[in-house]
Amino acid sequence: DKGEFRHYMLKEIYEQPKVIKATMEGRITDRRVLEQALGTGANELLADVRHVQIIACGTSYHAGMVARYWIEELAGIACSVEVASEYRYRKHVIQPDTLFLCISQSGETADTLAALRQAKQAGFRAALAICNVPGSSLVRESDLVIMTHAGPEIGVASTKAFTTQLVSLLIFTLALARHNGLSEEREADIVTALHQLPGQIDDALALDGKIAELSRAFIDKNHSLFLGRGAMYPVAMEGALKLKEISYIHAEAYPAGELKHGPLALVDSEMPVVTVAPNNELLEKLKSNLEEVRARGGELFVFADGDAELKEQPGIHVMQIPGVHSITAPIVYTLPLQLLSYHVAVLKGTDVDQPRNLAKSVTVE
Ligand code: M6R
Repeated sequence: DKGEFRHYMLKEIYEQPKVIKATMEGRITDRRVLEQALGTGANELLADVRHVQIIACGTSYHAGMVARYWIEELAGIACSVEVASEYRYRKHVIQPDTLFLCISQSGETADTLAALRQAKQAGFRAALAICNVPGSSLVRESDLVIMTHAGPEIGVASTKAFTTQLVSLLIFTLALARHNGLSEEREADIVTALHQLPGQIDDALALDGKIAELSRAFIDKNHSLFLGRGAMYPVAMEGALKLKEISYIHAEAYPAGELKHGPLALVDSEMPVVTVAPNNELLEKLKSNLEEVRARGGELFVFADGDAELKEQPGIHVMQIPGVHSITAPIVYTLPLQLLSYHVAVLKGTDVDQPRNLAKSVTVE
């Protein structure tokens, strides 16, 4: 039931504060991740992990890409991420003490399951699933499971499943990092940031009206670029995927530093450029990338921290998302990109919940 909402996708976007709370429930205290957060026996398994291999498809793959930044930064453990359809058809080397981590909303994605079954034969330490559907094949075939409590996701374009996957992955990262020298102080700082998420997501949802207005700039465009740096690069990829899936506008994500190495040649007044810019260490670099875009007439849509000192001016639209912790920023900054793609699709009159050519669950190759 869509209730008061025009589409399931919009309803699911608005459910995010609630389902994120549900995903954290019983897994964290005020300051810590609970010992039993990943189920019994998890700590023994995590203690010896030296490498994490993440496998997923589509949006779930983007969640895995964000997690790689967290795992290497907070746990200091090497992490590889690959789309299942590539992994399963190439010869691969499994490092010793690898944790094999599959991420899937449905738990029935054919390529992800095939990659897991194949890796089982090659041998790894343990298989962890991050999944939204209890009793799914993925859940049944894994040693450890973190359920995302997003509830049923009806819209083909994944929204709440993605942000609850990210929350689960961050909790997992903290549990892993504890075995690898993460200080109690740093853990407390990040857990505090997790508790702030539902409120911050409500604040991001409050930008809805403004984003709906800005979305008009996209309806007559055929192409768009999405830029981000660091963990915001996969957020840009996810924003681009959403836009292409439901509005049928070609959208490509680039790490902002790659602009000069090719895509800048595409930028003109017909190319809107969307940027997510919360990260202070990388902000200065990003700002000079934005100037390069502006100098070529590209219209910029920037979602930035209030401290970024980016000012609204002709050709640069700035929407501020104040005070988000740099670790949880990928979760909060996803929201405005979901809303943007939603409004563009509504204006274009596409079938938002059932985009052409796509199925909710890809159970065949
Ligand atoms: O159920 P899964 O998470 O394994 O599905 C993976 C992809 O098929 C899925 O994320 C797809 O890319 C979505 N339509 C994205 O919105």
